[in-house]
Amino acid sequence: MIEQLKTKLNEIENNYTTKLQNCASLKELQDLQVEALGRKGALTELLKSLKDLSLEEKKAFGPLSNEAKNKLTALFEEKAATLEIEEINKTLNETDIDLTLPSYPFEKGKRHPLEIAKKRMTDILKGLGFVWAQGPLVEDEYHNFDALNIPPHHPARDMQDTFFIKNTQKKDFVLRTHTSGVQIRTMQKQKPPIRIIAPGRVFRKDALDATHSPVFNQIEGLYIDKNVSLADLKRDLTLFMQGLFGPKAQVRFRSSFFPFTEPSVEVDVKCVFCEGKDQNCPVCKGSGWKEMLGAGIVHPNVLRNCGIDPEIYSGYAFGMGVERLAMFSLNIKDIRNFYDNDVRILEQF
Ligand code: PHE
Repeated sequence: MIEQLKTKLNEIENNYTTKLQNCASLKELQDLQVEALGRKGALTELLKSLKDLSLEEKKAFGPLSNEAKNKLTALFEEKAATLEIEEINKTLNETDIDLTLPSYPFEKGKRHPLEIAKKRMTDILKGLGFVWAQGPLVEDEYHNFDALNIPPHHPARDMQDTFFIKNTQKKDFVLRTHTSGVQIRTMQKQKPPIRIIAPGRVFRKDALDATHSPVFNQIEGLYIDKNVSLADLKRDLTLFMQGLFGPKAQVRFRSSFFPFTEPSVEVDVKCVFCEGKDQNCPVCKGSGWKEMLGAGIVHPNVLRNCGIDPEIYSGYAFGMGVERLAMFSLNIKDIRNFYDNDVRILEQF
């Protein structure tokens, strides 16, 4: 009996060894493997007859059948690997896939440095209780100038007189020259207390150079309530600058002029590069300070224009240039770096 089984075992082994070598596809090989080693395969069937053997015979035959099974399994695996490579090569030869192309993942994009800077600024302001407000980029003359106490003859218009769209719907429109028009739009809609910021693009007739661009970004701020004074403005802007440049940042207020604020101030920050110690500092030009933004107490005429009684309410406003602050905090020397879209430069920030 056992001799018979041994012959059978050899037969199976030889038979499938030859057959598997002749397989031409993975599918054919898999079918053959099931036929040889599967649950109802040839080898499994043979092993079922083990139960009729004596203990001695089982001990002798068991290892032989295991050996045959292992050998066949290894051969099947080896052949599968070869066939797999052949099939991949065949597909590649038949298609136009270019293996020299860079593989996934492609380089990921990231935020533009100006957006990073803008987000930092608005995050700090949100922390100080300001909420987001918006106005149109194409603004009418009234909101951009008149309501802000800038009448047609006022010299302040000259600096900003630009990009007019004449006489549409009996009104003149202008690409807004500052975000201050959003102050008016907000106060027309909303009764105090008001505490808003309005970030966005503005347009000037400036020529493009290292520090000027005809299109740039501002963040407007407006706070109106009872008893708001210059002290509130100084506190909030100092907190803002310290949030942006660190708790040791020093802030200076100089008197200035804007038609829509009275009194008006210009806000400087102590140069974060030389701290006022380097006579030849290229950033502050040795002055030790860097002008950052304009601000002031909202002019009573502006409040009146919006139907708010200046005898009851008062408030402050500020307007800052995002590029200017971003250039200062990131030490970027040329505003054009923001707009040239040269990834080699942008990715450094
Ligand atoms: N709108 C002014 C500008 O564009 C800035 C400013 C805003 C000044 C609010 C005072 C108050 O220069």
